[in-house]
Amino acid sequence: MGFDSTLDDLRSSGSPKWSDPKRPLQLWRAEMDFGTAPQIQQAVKEIIDGPGVGYLDPEQLDALREATAGFVARFGLDISPSQVSLAPDVVTIGKLLVTRLARPHERILMLTPGYKGFRHVIPLTGREVVEVPFADVDGRTTFDLAAIERELDAGVAVLILVNPANPTGRVYTREELTALDAVLSRYPATRVIADEIHAPFVMDGEHIPYATISSNAARQSITTTSASKGWNLAGYKAAQVIFTNPADLDTLAPVFAEDELALSTLGVVAQTVAYNECWHWQREALATIRANRDELSRRVATWPGVKLTPMEATYIAWLDFSGAYDAGRIPADVGAATHLEKFGVALTPGEEQGPGLERFARMMIAEPPAVFAEALERIESALGLK
Ligand SMILES: Cc1ncc(COP(=O)(O)O)c(C=O)c1O
Repeated sequence: MGFDSTLDDLRSSGSPKWSDPKRPLQLWRAEMDFGTAPQIQQAVKEIIDGPGVGYLDPEQLDALREATAGFVARFGLDISPSQVSLAPDVVTIGKLLVTRLARPHERILMLTPGYKGFRHVIPLTGREVVEVPFADVDGRTTFDLAAIERELDAGVAVLILVNPANPTGRVYTREELTALDAVLSRYPATRVIADEIHAPFVMDGEHIPYATISSNAARQSITTTSASKGWNLAGYKAAQVIFTNPADLDTLAPVFAEDELALSTLGVVAQTVAYNECWHWQREALATIRANRDELSRRVATWPGVKLTPMEATYIAWLDFSGAYDAGRIPADVGAATHLEKFGVALTPGEEQGPGLERFARMMIAEPPAVFAEALERIESALGLK
């Protein structure tokens, strides 16, 4: 498997996602289909070929804390490894933090369209979810600060900030983050969970960790990340949470410490190797994603009534098919993803990202170019363009 794999290569890879040729192309789940960086494969193989996959050694945990500090330092977040705690994945971290930072029935603010994983699990914690839609300023989604402040006034225990954003692909500028911090600083009891898992996928602009915006932002926020997106290690289960508020180190880090030794040995090693040794592979992945993004922008420009939200980061394209309904290219009574699936390409239904978004769909573009080209052809057939 690699950056130039064909659909046949994926089909014969043994992956359940690809092995059934009758299934539509699986571009709905946030994964890359480029295989795994050779250094990670090698490190995992050495463990498997050695005495066996044993329990984690505390030194392996410390190596991942150190690698994480090195990773975030690339973006200007300077921390010590002791500020890093570990848990299986970012969604689990978000859920755990919410249950610790908010009492049952307190309110959690999410911005929509937003990451569907949080939209799914946070309500399961018994906390009330409030969703504030992004504002659209000249075709760019940004914070609706007035609407956010109205909710903060009514009481919000935790605001979840995904930066860079899924599914809108926004890389928030310093000005935007500073303005958000200025509002939040008036509500010191509110906490921020900053999910920065997509930081390695910035194509335009620069990733600015929210905690670096001000001393208030560092105090108010908790950052979470993982190599699960950047290096496609979702099944390895060893994500990170970063405490930049000293009080959290006393109260929350011990909660995470209870279960750190239950993490996957292979996962901890794989994430460490990713951060320390696999940037060349990551940049190659990003170059392929960028080329796919550029191709997608060109093609969408020829699709009547379809809009691509400008993708500054991530490998998740957010497509608005509303105009294709108006043009009679999609039947009015089906969601966009349901219609496309009939033509052999499975995207994430828009409504999983926020209410009323049935005419949107989310598409993964971290695909080898030949597979991506096939997906574009199928979408063009679905739009009656072929
Ligand atoms: C913004 C965001 N956070 C978290 C995740 C999932 O991360 P994990 O597998 O570590 O829970 C994703 C996956 O797509 C994501 O897009």
